[in-house]
Amino acid sequence: MITFPKPIQPIGIFDSGIGGLTVARAITRLLPNEKIIYFGDTAHMPYGEKSAEAIKHYSLKIAEFLMFKNCKMIVIACNTASAAGYKAVLKHTGMKDLVVNVIDPAAEFVVKNYYRKKIGVIATKRTVSSNVYSKRISHLDPVADVSQLATPLLAPMIEEGFYNNKISQTIINSYLSKSKLGDIDALILGCTHYPLIKNEIQKFYGKKVAVIDSSEVVANHVKSVLEKHNLLNPGSKFGLSKADKQFFVSDYTQSFEETSKIFFEEKVKLKQFNIWED
Ligand code: DGL
Repeated sequence: MITFPKPIQPIGIFDSGIGGLTVARAITRLLPNEKIIYFGDTAHMPYGEKSAEAIKHYSLKIAEFLMFKNCKMIVIACNTASAAGYKAVLKHTGMKDLVVNVIDPAAEFVVKNYYRKKIGVIATKRTVSSNVYSKRISHLDPVADVSQLATPLLAPMIEEGFYNNKISQTIINSYLSKSKLGDIDALILGCTHYPLIKNEIQKFYGKKVAVIDSSEVVANHVKSVLEKHNLLNPGSKFGLSKADKQFFVSDYTQSFEETSKIFFEEKVKLKQFNIWED
């Protein structure tokens, strides 16, 4: 358990793969003095197709790795792991609000900005079947009208580089035309891969529907939690060195490294680290 974390310690961020880099990018943009340690469990992705038990197990193991790396905070930058593993990570680490999931900040944001409106959510099968968005939003607004749609083709499509083209727009349009998402006022992008297709989704709706990219909402939440605990890194006059942003994956391939650059919007050096051998 981490006792007395210090501002100079890194923020640990994890996802099933490289999609969570959209959250890491939003955090580093908002908080450029923060060191980060990112872990992408590429050996086990996609989490969206796994059982809740398996995801819980992976999440705990990754949380241990990030604690071992002396992280002051753990951000679960994956909706599927936030749905299945957050409570277990919270209990296991004892880090209380220094464990951040991506669902609660998004739920708070929609209730604050779209109170009593019709909210749509698109996410992986596991996130949708957990019903987590409906539960968290209804907890804050008991008469909220939340409609969730599983969109399992989208994450692999993006990872394969299919976005901003005719094929991706056709798949996106076909999902968004489903009656479940009819008449919504706002749509939560409930998967950390989806910020890459936000423009295509917005194009489908025009100005009629607000498309919510939770990575920015989560980054703001991270900032306020660090402020509350006096844990914001003041930075040094020398700035951050390359070593202050580290990216680990459980299975390395060159194609992951190339795709990472698109998610993080800068060159990323991935290191293979196998936390599953013991
Ligand atoms: N990035 C994950 C999420 O936010 C989805 C990808 C996967 O299925 O592993 O839910």
